[in-house]
Amino acid sequence: MHSIVLLLWVCLYYVEASSGKRVIHKNVGDTVELSSGLPTEGVTAALWRYGQITVADKDVGVSKDSPFKDRSERNLTDFTLTVRKLTLQDSGDFTFVSEVNDRQRPSVIITLQVHEPIAKPDIKISSTWIPSNESCKVLLECSTTGDVSYNWTVGKQTLTGPRQQYIIRQDGETNVTCTVSNHVSEKSAFQTVKCSKDHSHRKETGMWRVTEVVNTCSAYISNYYCL
Ligand SMILES: *[C@@H]1O[C@H](CO)[C@@H](O)[C@H](O)[C@H]1NC(C)=O
Ligand SMILES: *[C@@H]1O[C@H](CO)[C@@H](O)[C@H](O)[C@H]1NC(C)=O
Ligand SMILES: *[C@@H]1O[C@H](CO)[C@@H](O)[C@H](O)[C@H]1NC(C)=O
Ligand SMILES: *[C@@H]1O[C@H](CO)[C@@H](O)[C@H](O)[C@H]1NC(C)=O
Repeated sequence: MHSIVLLLWVCLYYVEASSGKRVIHKNVGDTVELSSGLPTEGVTAALWRYGQITVADKDVGVSKDSPFKDRSERNLTDFTLTVRKLTLQDSGDFTFVSEVNDRQRPSVIITLQVHEPIAKPDIKISSTWIPSNESCKVLLECSTTGDVSYNWTVGKQTLTGPRQQYIIRQDGETNVTCTVSNHVSEKSAFQTVKCSKDHSHRKETGMWRVTEVVNTCSAYISNYYCL
């Protein structure tokens, strides 16, 4: 009976310890607040590590060796670590190691991923007149910089990928929107495509918008997820 209880405890402990991994996405220049989510009562030791470097300690404060020493603070009450003016190089694993009444608790690992802000996408359109069925074959190409995913809305359809091909009937008008996104933000570009017999052409409206995706994590150690 005891060994079953012990086994169960070990399993639960392992699940809790290994699922404490979270990913936080931020843009260059943002501020991140790293919080372990663990209870703060009775904490006798607590430190934050970045890779192998101890960057902040409950008693000592922000470490001299920290690559963020001039732009970080640790909170003595809840042991959160705040890092400002993030750069791409700050991406990496932060580990929170702590003890309650001199007994070590499971470490919490938070992976920080800092992204380049997304540039406004550029839409290129080329179309060919198809005489046989009086329509235009339209080639849509969306481009921007950085590591992003591409979504198109063509009429009422949603398509994934930077390049699309589409057929528009003569005198037909179709609105196309390219949305590029990473985990932090998204940007869109919009155009109206028109097909006519004389020459296939496009009408530019040049509208675009910016939407910031809210970066949130849930608060329970066994269930962390980020949007
Ligand atoms: C530290 O955290 C506590 C609790 O979250 C908060 O009330 C306090 O203002 C913070 N202190 C600083 C210096 O940010
Ligand atoms: C025009 O012809 C192409 C094939 O040549 C076909 O895929 C497309 O559906 C046709 N479009 C219309 C509007 O009939
Ligand atoms: C892109 O399109 C896919 C498939 O329709 C969808 O699941 C996803 O949420 C879209 N992403 C964005 C950022 O709109
Ligand atoms: C395309 O977008 C414009 C501007 O938003 C709108 O006035 C027009 O009705 C749209 N056309 C179609 C076919 O949806």
